[in-house]
Amino acid sequence: MKEIKKIVLAYSGGLDTSIAVRWLLEHKAEEVVAVSIDLGQNEDLEAAKQKALKVGASQAFIIDARKEFVEDFIFPSLQANAKYEFDYPLATAIGRPLIAKCLNDIAVQTQADAVAHGCTAKGNDQVRFEVSWLALNPQLKVIAPAREWGELCNRNLAIDYAAKHNIPVNSTKKSLYSIDLNLWGRSVECGILEDPWVEPPEDAYSLTKSLIEAPNTPEYLEIGFEKGIPISLNNERLDGISLIEKLNIIAGEHGIGRLDQVENRLVGIKSREIYEAPAAMVLLKAHRELEYLVNPKDLMHFKAGLDQKYAELIYNGLWFSPLREALDGFNQKTQQRVTGTLRLKLYKGNCIVVGRKSEFSLYNEGLATYDAKDTFDHASAQGFIKLFGLGVKSFYEVGK
Ligand code: ARG
Repeated sequence: MKEIKKIVLAYSGGLDTSIAVRWLLEHKAEEVVAVSIDLGQNEDLEAAKQKALKVGASQAFIIDARKEFVEDFIFPSLQANAKYEFDYPLATAIGRPLIAKCLNDIAVQTQADAVAHGCTAKGNDQVRFEVSWLALNPQLKVIAPAREWGELCNRNLAIDYAAKHNIPVNSTKKSLYSIDLNLWGRSVECGILEDPWVEPPEDAYSLTKSLIEAPNTPEYLEIGFEKGIPISLNNERLDGISLIEKLNIIAGEHGIGRLDQVENRLVGIKSREIYEAPAAMVLLKAHRELEYLVNPKDLMHFKAGLDQKYAELIYNGLWFSPLREALDGFNQKTQQRVTGTLRLKLYKGNCIVVGRKSEFSLYNEGLATYDAKDTFDHASAQGFIKLFGLGVKSFYEVGK
């Protein structure tokens, strides 16, 4: 009798989670239920499901979570302009709490007593899964095979283990990168990328063209927003999934969204990761620009600090937390007027804002112009400066 009767495993169909099915059956659980979650990674999840059953899972589920991912996770993070350490748009990080939620749903449905993920002890993802489960269902037992199986961390030994247990493997022994992909972007690490001095080889990328290959002529694009949510591309109304999919292709073609970042992990390690997030980068840029057009200065300056906090919460696995919920309440209010259209120019890795309009625009040409249409009260400036500068004037007068 094993310590666990039934365990629900986050299953991708890759080498590690396939080995995890066998390893769990060998060491921990009577029964393994595999769950593959579609976050727009464009993988054959039906094949993954069959593989899970073949490798020994008693049941295998596929959950299409794309709509929920876009509407309840990606869009709120877009409204918070969420980028970790000013750059990373958090594709991997924002997917984890939703995967945790789906696994918990299946655990409840199948009356399982435990859940498992394939993350190692060194990363952020283990924290994101497990803190989510603590928030959602603290009764669940959690097993992290890759944290316990010691020598199987070695890729070659893992492949040998797979061969011994008849687990089909696509990756060869020198398979290079660790990759995570969803609608919001792609994360790539390991292999040669572990040397932060080495330029990432072209084969590390798959969503974006190189700058050399990108077209020599710019492409213009219009994005429409309603209350902080992107709703159209070039005047064509699209649902969130299609809009992000289309934009990934359009912007990827122009080499937009590549990042090479050394980041601070929650567990104290500095790691080097390559990111590709064409749609995310474009939408984040457009959204922020529109916010600045329609919201006043003090609100936007204050929100910037909260936005950074929001990104940290996502990164650190605190999606399911009272602070994130409270910030969403604040953000909802700030998005009431974030409706309008952005005109962007995509060219050789650049996404440049070249035009913006909104029924709520606070831009007032009469106030801003230097020509005859000027409506600004010039006389008011003098008195304003006198009072505005009174504090510093008083300070520096003392002791002169
Ligand atoms: N560093 C990123 C994060 O913590 C991505 C982690 C997963 N990366 C990967 N290549 N599998 O969110």
